Amino acid sequence: AFPKRVKIVEVGPRDGLQNEKNIVPTPVKIKLIDMLSEAGLPVIEATSFVSPKWVPQMADHSEVLKGIQKFPGVNYPVLTPNMKGFEEAVSAGAKEVSIFGAASELFTRKNVNCSIDESFQRFDGIMKAAQAASIPVRGYVSCALGCPYEGKVSPAKVAEVAKKLYSMGCYEISLGDTIGVGTPGLMKDMLSAVMREVPVAALAVHCHDTYGQALANTLVALQMGVSVVDSSVAGLGGCPYAKGASGNLATEDLVYMLTGLGIHTGVDLQKLLEAGDFICQALNRKTSSKVAQATCKL
Ligand code: HMG
Ligand code: MG
Repeated sequence: AFPKRVKIVEVGPRDGLQNEKNIVPTPVKIKLIDMLSEAGLPVIEATSFVSPKWVPQMADHSEVLKGIQKFPGVNYPVLTPNMKGFEEAVSAGAKEVSIFGAASELFTRKNVNCSIDESFQRFDGIMKAAQAASIPVRGYVSCALGCPYEGKVSPAKVAEVAKKLYSMGCYEISLGDTIGVGTPGLMKDMLSAVMREVPVAALAVHCHDTYGQALANTLVALQMGVSVVDSSVAGLGGCPYAKGASGNLATEDLVYMLTGLGIHTGVDLQKLLEAGDFICQALNRKTSSKVAQATCKL
């Protein structure tokens, strides 16, 4: 059975923009986030406090976080890879942070320059500081359906990393198909393994759409009881350390499907489409959302 309501975590301002070559002006990022808030998204991942040498696009993280309108009831989490990022995020006013791990040793090395074990040592420090400051922490598991460097990733490894993040206090674990190679069968096997270790209510899926499978994979997760879905306006996105990976599942397409299924999201599709138009114009690119491209109406 499908969940009655689904919480959409909009990752466009972070995942969507981090891979853009040209630096997007800070006011454009702020306006995008404000439009997404206006559209009714309950969670908007605003930016990441990573090293500007690694991801120059996110160098204006503090200005973005300070500049956006904070809508009541909306959360604006940010990515924090280490204590330096966590401390800067908190001084810029972050009320929620995300730590990002992976089920692949090689991807972890490329993405954050350490081993999986070392990444957990960093997470421990962040978690303790976050708990002391009453800041909720979300955890990511990248490469949940495949790795750009290791290929196949076993469901058992994903479950192990997810369980660790959950046990250390992450309130939600987002399972990332970082390079968008998964298919519904893989999603089912991976989720079955993870659901033996982490309650389904604490799970989210985060599907990139490289092979056009993101909506199908997400549907399988919903059927299995997952009720939190990450997506990106206009289908923007990609990870600089996962070459060839395309954008996330488009939020417009997700909202259209959920509405058709009678599942409540609280998102105004019209306003969401306007936010998508705005950012595509600013980036001078075509939307990846099929719904935004569609001209026929029911
Ligand atoms: P490092 O070079 O190993 O770090 O990078 P370090 O601790 O050795 O420090 C080196 C320099 O970086 C020092 O400066 C530090 O101060 C500075 P220097 O002395 O050379 O002038 N530094 C920082 N500066 C600003 N903010 C910080 C910070 N930390 C150190 N937080 C590090 C390690 C983790 C920092 C680096 O590898 C990094 O920033 N990686 C981020 C990569 C990234 O953002 N990837 C994309 C997000 S993950 C993703 O997209 C997947 C996801 O969407 C889910 C999915 O799809 O699966 C979430
Ligand atoms: Mg991603």
